[in-house]
Amino acid sequence: MTSLVQKTDFPIFDDEKLIYLDSASTSQKPKIVLDTIKNAYESSNANVHRALYDLGSRSTELYESSREIISDFINAHSSKEVIFTGGATESINLLSYSLEKKIQKGDEILLSHMEHHANIVPWQQLAKRCGAQLKYLPLTDSGDLDLSKKEQYFTNKTKIVSITHMSNVLGTINPIKKIAKIVKSIGAIFIIDGAQSVSHMPVDVQKLECDFLAFSGHKMLGPTGVGVLWGKLNLLNDLEPFLSGGEMIEKVTLDNSTWNEVPYKFEAGTPNYIQAIGLSAAVKYLKDIGMDNVRNYEETLTSYALEKLQNIPKIYIHGNPKKRGGVISFNIGGVHPQDLAQFLNEDKICLRVGHHCAQPLLETLNETSTARISFYIYNNFSDIDKLVDSINSTIKYF
Ligand SMILES: Cc1ncc(COP(=O)(O)O)c(C=O)c1O
Repeated sequence: MTSLVQKTDFPIFDDEKLIYLDSASTSQKPKIVLDTIKNAYESSNANVHRALYDLGSRSTELYESSREIISDFINAHSSKEVIFTGGATESINLLSYSLEKKIQKGDEILLSHMEHHANIVPWQQLAKRCGAQLKYLPLTDSGDLDLSKKEQYFTNKTKIVSITHMSNVLGTINPIKKIAKIVKSIGAIFIIDGAQSVSHMPVDVQKLECDFLAFSGHKMLGPTGVGVLWGKLNLLNDLEPFLSGGEMIEKVTLDNSTWNEVPYKFEAGTPNYIQAIGLSAAVKYLKDIGMDNVRNYEETLTSYALEKLQNIPKIYIHGNPKKRGGVISFNIGGVHPQDLAQFLNEDKICLRVGHHCAQPLLETLNETSTARISFYIYNNFSDIDKLVDSINSTIKYF
């Protein structure tokens, strides 16, 4: 099977030997995204929302139409609900500060054992500042969220629930709609960490019934340095700003300031407008393929990989053996993940090893390090065959 898209769309694959299996970490970029960024710098570059000359208007138009494109991609009610940030980490940090006034001593913040550090540490910091308590939903043996004792975790003290849509280690896709119903019944705020989902499956914020969604551009074919926080307009209007300075204000006097309207209230300083424009080119590219096609294709790749990997001696594959997104973490008896990565590197195979910024999850799995492969639209069966051959040669060496 050939890949879903032409590898030739991605200049990095001019090196035909390169096998890139680390897209959960960051994705490769199609030429159209790189060209869009270059063109924006070369022909439309001026600071946005302030220049009265034509170049400034063009730049502002491109930036604001990128907001529209991204708003449409996740089916937001309005592009005002789309805030450009530096990435998922910054989006979650923004919330952890802007929600602070709503959290009192004794309130609970509910996360899960499968969260990335980006969806743990900011909440730990908030809990420390406010005297709140953190709770973590446990996992089943197959790496799914265990909702069997939900009454213990979703209580009348729960004020924030922040859960990943898809695990960056296990590939588990969480039942967001089901969780949204529980969260609604207790009147808490529901945040989705979409860093691993928005890039790999259709994500419709209205259907998911969440309050906020955080994601990163660089994991979805876009440039680094740009991400999104989507939030319901009434909630965003009600939040305190995170960073302060230029552009996020309505009026500044020597003693006081008032805030600009949403989304600008949350975009202090010169925004990352060129990156946002680059991200909109990535979104257009993904839209042309169709996110259902992306998900189906990755499901096929993942099933194939799970089947092939299972034949490797002494392999242990973490998480659900059948149903998951395009992420597979595993350990092989007698071969440390670090050694494996070094051997595979000799064959130009890129995979990630370590704790994947999810140390609490690794502790639950009883591991300090795993090897992880993750797919995207440019991968194909041949990449998986070469990976399996290379792993088998490594095992022989040891
Ligand atoms: C599930 C999840 N959440 C959050 C992040 C943080 O994303 P970023 O580093 O782009 O801010 C990642 C990155 O790997 C992730 O996988």
